[in-house]
Amino acid sequence: MKKKIVRIVLLFVGALLVGIGAAVVMQQAQDRKENAECSSRTSQTARVSLQTHWEREEKISLQPQTADGKPAEAKRQEDEQTKKVALTFDDGPNPDYTGMLLDGLKERGIKASFFVLGSEVELYPQLVRRASEEGHLIGVHAYRHVNLRQLSDAEAVEQVDRTNGAIYRATGQYASYIRPPYGCWKEDLDYEVQMVEVLWDIDPRDWATTSSDLVVQRVLSEVEENSIILLHDASRSSVQAAFTIIDTLQKQGYTFVTVEELLLE
Ligand code: NI
Repeated sequence: MKKKIVRIVLLFVGALLVGIGAAVVMQQAQDRKENAECSSRTSQTARVSLQTHWEREEKISLQPQTADGKPAEAKRQEDEQTKKVALTFDDGPNPDYTGMLLDGLKERGIKASFFVLGSEVELYPQLVRRASEEGHLIGVHAYRHVNLRQLSDAEAVEQVDRTNGAIYRATGQYASYIRPPYGCWKEDLDYEVQMVEVLWDIDPRDWATTSSDLVVQRVLSEVEENSIILLHDASRSSVQAAFTIIDTLQKQGYTFVTVEELLLE
């Protein structure tokens, strides 16, 4: 009799463990699926959302403006002759690699865009200040590397606001652009967070390899005019890949601009 009870209890515990295991695996699969769904959208979405954003906000004028005093028409013709691409760097600032990257960008006269983590901005504000002072665009990633879609609206807004506060303290300016981690935005936050979402066209998955050659090859095989390229200033190989990509594409006549300049065309 005792033996039978023990066997039943063991069976029960076993079934419970299998159940928990299955639930965990399903949740993980669901997470991956959500992330894949989020990131499979392209920056076309960003272009549309930019337009609706500005229509709603009317914050800035979309009239052609020329900083260098050239007539708008001449400037427009000049723009049409240049092939533009945008390099973007997520997850920084990074104490080991962001400075190295900024040095190389400066040497090459390149402007890029950085989507930063608020927690890291608070740790290394001087890197973000330097990037901003050197003409790079600073945008929000999140405060920590979380999927905003899995948070409540209030928590997601807090991720954005805390990051933007840290950016403001570091640079004296608030960010207008956001690239949420995994490309996962909450649509119902559009009216609470007045920022433009920027995704990407080319993802060479640089974080998953230490081979800069592989990253370079993946980007160069996909690049075309107006491509937004996703990289991370989080490893030596990514920084090295960025430099090789710049040197190669500059020879092919490409100009590197911030995402703002690309999207406002
Ligand atoms: Ni990220």
